[in-house]
Amino acid sequence: MGILDGRVVIVTGAGRGIGRAEALECARQGASVVLAEYDPSPAYDVADEIIASGGRAIVASGDVADTDFVDRTVAATVEEFGRLDALVNNAGILRTSELADMSDDEWDSVIRVHLRGTFAPTRAVCRYWRGSGRHGRIVHTTSIAGLYGFHGQANYGSAKAGIAAFTAIVASEMQQYGVTSNAIAPMALTRMTTDVVDENPSDGEFRFLAADNVAPLVTYLCSEDSGHISGKVFGVQGDSVEIFQPFTSVAEIRAGGRRWDPAELSGRIGELFEASGIPAGPENGMAKMRYKPG
Ligand SMILES: NC(=O)c1ccc[n+]([C@@H]2O[C@H](COP(=O)([O-])OP(=O)(O)OC[C@H]3O[C@@H](n4cnc5c(N)ncnc54)[C@H](O)[C@@H]3O)[C@@H](O)[C@H]2O)c1
Repeated sequence: MGILDGRVVIVTGAGRGIGRAEALECARQGASVVLAEYDPSPAYDVADEIIASGGRAIVASGDVADTDFVDRTVAATVEEFGRLDALVNNAGILRTSELADMSDDEWDSVIRVHLRGTFAPTRAVCRYWRGSGRHGRIVHTTSIAGLYGFHGQANYGSAKAGIAAFTAIVASEMQQYGVTSNAIAPMALTRMTTDVVDENPSDGEFRFLAADNVAPLVTYLCSEDSGHISGKVFGVQGDSVEIFQPFTSVAEIRAGGRRWDPAELSGRIGELFEASGIPAGPENGMAKMRYKPG
């Protein structure tokens, strides 16, 4: 018995890394899995692995930012398995560059895959759930690069912060249909991170940064049991699961029933930093990480 017995899950970018681990864990937990992946060869390997262990999986090969592809994938899923219970928006790419050196293509390609590639599949499944009356689960993939703001990742971080906002908005809109929308900010050693993340030699038997460690939380968020949780962002890596505070106002100054004079703000703006403890200058996003790799 698994927590996803009889359920059907679409995982995007399921051919490698975190998506592969999520697809395999969903299948281990009893789900039929649709592997939506740009690169068919690794996706078929994952499907073969699931089928060899007695599970059910199909590959949908295409670009998650392509509306036709995702609409067809949702229709094919329902035709093949008779239902759809969860979507895991995981597909992603990284193009790191300082802003002053960033090309239009580096900006557009990252924004497209992450933001449009989260929007298009989410819209397709929301239409299905709204029309079918079934409950649904959506798990998006954000990143601490967006939540904390990492140097050299203006494109990627902006997309990931957008996904965190999207998570909350979809949660609010889809609550009436019994659909939850949550996001994870994972950390794992994959093709995407081999250049920036090192295996910690003190990990011992338990490989802290294995992509497999991200999958149990995602599997739980795809299950019927997690129906009371929505609009939340969780950090997940190794044996750790965190929850992030959404953007929240923490201090206020008022002009007293009239419009502010700009020069007056120069004298009073410091009250916001004093009251909140927030530094006035730019912050080092990396310093906010609980777990520091290396
Ligand atoms: N690895 C980390 O530490 C880390 C940290 C934060 C966030 N993330 C996020 O986790 C997700 C998975 O990353 P990963 O580390 O497993 O990367 P990865 O490169 O190992 O795997 C990503 C997969 O997505 C697929 N993909 C890319 N663009 C696609 C598209 N347009 N349509 C369909 N498939 C597409 C790729 O072919 C690949 O198989 C990404 O959204 C990434 O931004 C990863």
